[in-house]
Amino acid sequence: MNIGIIIHSHTGHTLSVAEKLQDELLKTGHSARIERVSAINEDPSSAKNIQLKTAPDIKDYDRLIIGAPVRGFSLSSVMEEYLSQLTSLKDKKIDCFVTQAFPYPWMGGNRSINQMKDICEAKDGKVYKKGIINWSHKNRDKKIADLVENFKKSE
Ligand SMILES: Cc1cc2nc3c(=O)[nH]c(=O)nc-3n(C[C@H](O)[C@H](O)[C@H](O)COP(=O)(O)O)c2cc1C
Repeated sequence: MNIGIIIHSHTGHTLSVAEKLQDELLKTGHSARIERVSAINEDPSSAKNIQLKTAPDIKDYDRLIIGAPVRGFSLSSVMEEYLSQLTSLKDKKIDCFVTQAFPYPWMGGNRSINQMKDICEAKDGKVYKKGIINWSHKNRDKKIADLVENFKKSE
């Protein structure tokens, strides 16, 4: 399977999870490529009028794993803008994850994941797995390992 790991990551947390995922997916014989979404202005405090600098083309991927940080209890506006610009996600199998600083998913993670899911499904994508990594959780490494294990399997 040709898997695109499409991420927005400013300080590297989301990227580090994506890299672990990529390593494991490659071991299972899939093609897995990390592609980064970025904005011209990456200042995290400016969430309005996002202009994308890199917007990965997803057409060749069968499966997408989409990852992004939580910002202000919402999905990062860079990822939100990117997903909003996609024309169609028809026939794509999609898994989503977010990373957030706070220790509990209700502190923005759940909302962000649901935003991702809603945008993807509005574009005819089918969302299967969802994962939230709480960076300040004491069992963070275990949670990342569990997410990777879960996402390694495809529906
Ligand atoms: C402007 C801004 C707003 C944030 N808002 C939240 C938040 O509402 N909840 C939370 O848990 N973390 C929040 N964070 C922390 C990030 O979600 C967290 O550090 C994330 O893992 C960063 O991912 P990255 O390193 O891939 O950019 C915020 C960070 C920034 C810069």
